[in-house]
This record gives sequence, C-alpha cells and structure tokens, in this order.
Amino acid sequence: MRSHYCGQLRAKHVGETVTLYGWVDRRRDHGGVIFLDVRDRSGIAQIVSDPERTPDSYEAADKLRNEYVVKITGRVTGRPPESLNPKLPTGEVEIYADQIELLNSVRKQLPFQVSTAESESVREDLRLRYRYLDLRRDRMSRNLQLRHAVVKSIRRFLEDEEAFIELETPILTRSTPEGARDYLVPSRVNPGEFYALPQSPQLFKQILMVSGFDRYYQIARCFRDEDLRADRQPEFTQLDMEMSFMSQEEILDLNERLVCHIFKQVKGIDLPRPFPRLTYAEAMNRYGCDKPDTRYGLELVDVSDVVAGTGFKVFADAVKQGGIVKILPIPGGNDAISNVRIKPGGDLFKEASEAGARGLAYIRVREGGEIDTIGAIKDNLTDEQKQEILTRTGAQPGHLLLFGAGDTATVNKTLDRLRQVVAKELSLIDPDKVNLLWVVEFPMFEWNADEKRLEALHHPFTAPYPEDAHDLKTARAQAYDLVYNGFEVGGGSLRIYQPDLQQQVFETIGLSEEEAQNKFGFLLEAFEFGTPPHGGIAYGLDRLVMLLAGEESIRDAIAFPKTQQARCLLTNAPNDVDDKQLKELHIAKVEKPKV
Ligand code: AMO
Repeated sequence: MRSHYCGQLRAKHVGETVTLYGWVDRRRDHGGVIFLDVRDRSGIAQIVSDPERTPDSYEAADKLRNEYVVKITGRVTGRPPESLNPKLPTGEVEIYADQIELLNSVRKQLPFQVSTAESESVREDLRLRYRYLDLRRDRMSRNLQLRHAVVKSIRRFLEDEEAFIELETPILTRSTPEGARDYLVPSRVNPGEFYALPQSPQLFKQILMVSGFDRYYQIARCFRDEDLRADRQPEFTQLDMEMSFMSQEEILDLNERLVCHIFKQVKGIDLPRPFPRLTYAEAMNRYGCDKPDTRYGLELVDVSDVVAGTGFKVFADAVKQGGIVKILPIPGGNDAISNVRIKPGGDLFKEASEAGARGLAYIRVREGGEIDTIGAIKDNLTDEQKQEILTRTGAQPGHLLLFGAGDTATVNKTLDRLRQVVAKELSLIDPDKVNLLWVVEFPMFEWNADEKRLEALHHPFTAPYPEDAHDLKTARAQAYDLVYNGFEVGGGSLRIYQPDLQQQVFETIGLSEEEAQNKFGFLLEAFEFGTPPHGGIAYGLDRLVMLLAGEESIRDAIAFPKTQQARCLLTNAPNDVDDKQLKELHIAKVEKPKV
C-alpha cells in the first residue's frame, strides 16, 4: 500500500519507512550511487540507492530509465547540508530505497522529455498528440488539479452554504438559441431528424425554475461550432446557475460571494467586495469594449464635439454621419512608438486596419510641449481645438495621441485593439493584479447589419429594466457580465416570465408568433403554468481556470482540448466513418467539391 504521495515528504517524516508509487522523472548515477527523482501527481521525491547502504535495491535502480513505473519502499533521511534543495518542497529529505519494484517499463522512444528538470519547450501539436505524457508534466498536472480545486470549491459553496442542487440536463436536445452554430447528431430511429448538442442548458434551467427547484447549478458541457480563438473551444464547460425569486442585486451579491470563495480557497486571495461595476455605455466609451482590462489606464477620450465641423474631412464626416472621433492617449508613446509603425505597412497600422480603420492620425507632444502631427490636423484644427484636445486627454510631454475616426463600432474596435497591444508592449500590465468587475445595463438588442434586423444581445429571454420596457428597441437589459482581467468569464440575466413581454421581444427581433412557437413552443407553454420570477448566470469554467493558472490558452486548462481546427490530435477526431454507419443514420455523403 502507498503510505505517502511523493510530494508530501518533509523533514518531519525522517526516520519513517514509506512506500511510494510513481514514475522515474530522472535518474543520475554519481559514481556508483544512483539518485532517482520519482514523480507522482503531487510532486517529486529523491530516492537514493547504493551497493553498500541499500544492496537489495541497487540492481533494480541501476536498470531504471526515465518514465519507468516503480514502487519504492525506503527510509526517509535528512539530506546532508550540501545537497539540500530549497527549490523542491521535498528538498530537505531523501529516501534510501530498501526495495524497488519495477512495475512497468517504457517500450518506445519518448517523443519529448516529461521531466520538468529538462526545460525543453515542446511544440503544442506534439503535446496534444501525446497528451497523456504532457499531462504527467508539472505544469499541466498543476493546472488540472487547480481545475479540480475550483470545481470542488464551487460545489462546497453552492451546495453547503447556499442550498443549490445539481441537476443534469440533456446532451441530445433541440437547438437552443445562443447564436452560434449547432453541432448536430442524426437520429437513427427518426430518419431525417437531428438532435443538437446544447450550446448551453439555458432553456432547461429555466424550465427547472418552473418546476420549483428554485436554486439549480450544473457543471455543464456545452458545444458551439464557432471559429476558435485562444479563449474558445468547440466543447467547453460552464458553471451554469439559475435562481428563482431573486433580484439582480441579490444575484450579483451571491455571485460575488461565490467568486470570493473560489479565490480564497484556490489562491488564498481575499478579493475586495463589492466588485466595481461599469455600465455597458461607460465601458464602451472609456475602453471601446464591453470587457475592458482595467489593470492599466490608457482610457479613451471622445473628442467628437471638438473636431465636428473642422476642415479635416475624415473627422468632420465621421461626426456628420453619426460616428465619432476618439483618442487613445499613450504616455511615453512619443519615444516608444515611431511613425513607421503607425503609417501604412507598420504593425500598429495593420492592427488598426484589421479592426476596420482606414488610417491612424496622431499628435505627438514633444519635450517642452511642442506638438508634431499630420498635415491635415496641423492645417485644419485651430490652436484652440488642439489645446482642447491636449487638455481633455491630459497630454504631457512624451505623450502620443492616436485618433480613431469613423462609425462608432469601428472606432471602438480599433482603439480597444491598439490599447491592448500598447499596454503589453509598454509593460503596463501587472500580472499579479486581479481585476474583477461587472459590466451591467447592456442594451437589449444590437443591429445585425447583414440581416438588417435587431437581434438579442444576450438571448431573447433576457428581461428589460421595467422602467425601459415602454420602448424595447432602446431598453437596457437586466443583464450582467463578469470580466476578469479583460476576459468575459461569466454572463447572465434576469429572465422574462410574462408572456406578453416575451411576445413583444420576439416581435422586436422579427420572430413571428409561428416561428417563436416552432422554436420555443415548449418553453412558452411551460411558462403558462405558473412561472416564478427567475434569473441566472453561466461562467466559462475553462476560461476561469486558464486565468487562475496564469495561462494564455484555454487549451492549457482542459485535459483533452481541440486544436484551432477543432481536431483532437490524440484520437484524431473527427474521422471518416464507414458507409454502413451512415446508411443506418439515413445520411448520404456529398463529396467535397474539388477546388
Ligand atoms: P454565454 O454565451 O455568455 O451565456 O456563456 C457563458 C460563458 O461561457 C464562456 N464561453 C466559452 N468558453 C469557452 N469556449 C467557448 N466557445 C465559450 N463560449 C462561451 C464565457 C461566457 O461568459 N446561457 C447563457 C448564460 C445565462 O444567461 O445564464 C450563456 O450561455 O466565459
């Protein structure tokens, strides 16, 4: 029987006989004395074997190689002062091995070194192809154990302190209207019909409120067939919650306590409460996005009113056409950022144009207060206008002011992107800072330019503020997102529970009564039978763990993630299936068109 995990051994165990199981992380032969680092999920212990002190284990120790699986029984001994290893939690002790049993060997060449002592950086495709080896490595092992600790602390808080119950909702279901593409599953017994994998348990959790469960949660797998990014996976996990009879304030309060509990349990951090709040309008105005990273400043400044009517057409037209002119003021940017980078061909110009901008006007404030700018600003803006811009942006010698001009969405997108790039480059981000904030008062709808109609910003069951309900088109939603260092880690809303209001929302997004019935008839019918006021939220668990682990990719928070091409490199899914399977499913293959 195992007596300890390797990583648990400390000076207080000296003199004890212990039994350990694990993998050989490294083996070193120091003139006949063999040192083994043996690893399990808890860490590493140093094992010693030599022909004189441990003759029974020496022969076995001599034959071990990296990643062999072993059972070790031995005596814990204090290390001599010269071999103490303060970097290792077990660095004060070593184990003289009385017995070493080889449980299994490695038969193939390792594709990469598993040992963390080897600082080899491994290509991600190799790590994903041999994920089982990658997960043995310290970094991934720690990330997944952190993930477990997060889930455990969630369960303890919600179940033990807040009386939530966990319920499961179906994986084979109808499509839910979250806005991404569905993964479809053909039905064998219902020819020609399909299930959809859930994009979230949204409709079921609302129905559970109709059923009276009152406080529900689920660690729920969700599926969305959307373009992947570093913080998105096609298959991801939500902490999904729904509550009845609670106001938005009560829901936010409970969720702040939940998040504080997680941080305390997992990181030992006491987060200050209440979390700051920004309205959507304020977030867009000051940061150009609805999930701002507030660990640094670089706030945007609107100067539309200053430049309206100027002779510089780009500015004047932007304002005339209902758009804006905004500035990203960069302290120290004058020295740090050259003109080459903001002109066509430059990297910052490229960032801006990828966001839709056509150019980047600028003002540089030289030492002594002299300004240097593009010809169009020099020639068309009055001294008063220039002075007002400097005052409003708080520009000091050394500042670089970058302008965005055009339609509001493009300007915000451009300056948000530049703000993030510049903050990274100028090292304005303190990696130890934890900034959590709520973004509230989202609009109910946004304009879908392609389909020329309004669409729900969250989903069509989101309730408006009662005082705004007379004009739904411009109403604010009782919706909230939780933002953690610039990432949206959670989002939810109060739901509509009155059929009339629900009908009006469907009308506003151009959904006919028939279509609404067709899509959500079962939910609308359920709502006829006594629906409590309710609301909820869902957190992106993978994203939360990624951030808590200090990782930059969501893949490093998931045991078996997919690549950017939505492939699993370990199993090589998705894969071709044989014709018999397809036939049973009533599916005919359409050959890929040749290009
Ligand atoms: P939403 O669509 O905002 O809300 O999703 C909730 C949270 O899930 C995470 N998330 C993702 N994480 C990884 N990969 C993805 N592809 C992905 N998509 C979303 C985000 C996000 O904040 N039903 C509503 C919640 C509700 O109203 O209760 C919903 O799903 O962190």
